[in-house]
Amino acid sequence: AETKPLPVVVWIHGHECTGCDESFIRSGAPLASDVVLSQIDLEYDHLLSAASGEPFERHLEEIMKKYKGQYILAVEGAVCTGDNGVYCMSGGRPFVRTLQEAAAGAMAIIAYGTCAVSGGIQSAKPNPTGSAGINPFVGNTPVVNVPGCPPIPEVMTGVIMHLALFGTLPPLDGEGRPKQFYGNRIHDTCYRRPFFDAGMFAENFDDAGAKAGWCLYKLGCRGPETYNSCGNLRWFQGMSYPIQSGAPCIGCSNANFWDDEPFTKRL
Ligand code: SF4
Ligand code: SF4
Ligand code: F3S
Repeated sequence: AETKPLPVVVWIHGHECTGCDESFIRSGAPLASDVVLSQIDLEYDHLLSAASGEPFERHLEEIMKKYKGQYILAVEGAVCTGDNGVYCMSGGRPFVRTLQEAAAGAMAIIAYGTCAVSGGIQSAKPNPTGSAGINPFVGNTPVVNVPGCPPIPEVMTGVIMHLALFGTLPPLDGEGRPKQFYGNRIHDTCYRRPFFDAGMFAENFDDAGAKAGWCLYKLGCRGPETYNSCGNLRWFQGMSYPIQSGAPCIGCSNANFWDDEPFTKRL
């Protein structure tokens, strides 16, 4: 029987911390190893590929030529535009150029993580490197935005599996995010919500309310304005998520969350 060739994936890294890759490899359903070894043909990834150096960069060029218009491009990290992009070099040239070239030949792009979607920590004030999200730099190639710092492992594998299996983008919301994973606010699925509704709030991290598991709103929780799947999927195969471990949601899937509460007090 004929076997269908696996969809080719190129995964490039800009201004980032590799936390998104680290999240991806912890996916339990599907297992990240199954995705990488049997569902996609991952040809280039700084963390997961064994190769490196000049032959690896040549391989990227060859793959982009050979599979022009067909490969899926995964992007992790922000674009750095300050001083002609010199603060983020990849393969000896500014990352922004690698991105533009790779985007032009891709059938679709996955922007993995808040850095790729909207700049992330690199673009936090005062943003000395001129960092930004990738969307304005990729021309007309369609983008699936998968924000989160990092995104949930199963959200990352779920999105790439959709593209690989169906060859189409998943249904997206107005901000280009897959509706399946970003349709609810953290606040909508939070198990502490009854305390919010009853006006029972922790006022300090070590007070009686905090110990009793009351709502974390007064400690800066951004669940009411943050769209993500943490409340229903949770992290690491359903184990926990920030609010369950006693920390307010910091809104890590929101643009510019580093510049906002709870890191910076709203005035
Ligand atoms: Fe790292 Fe967060 Fe950026 Fe992902 S989104 S690369 S985890 S800083
Ligand atoms: Fe909403 Fe946060 Fe309170 Fe949960 S802890 S109910 S997300 S404000
Ligand atoms: Fe991020 Fe909030 Fe989930 S901080 S991990 S979106 S609970």
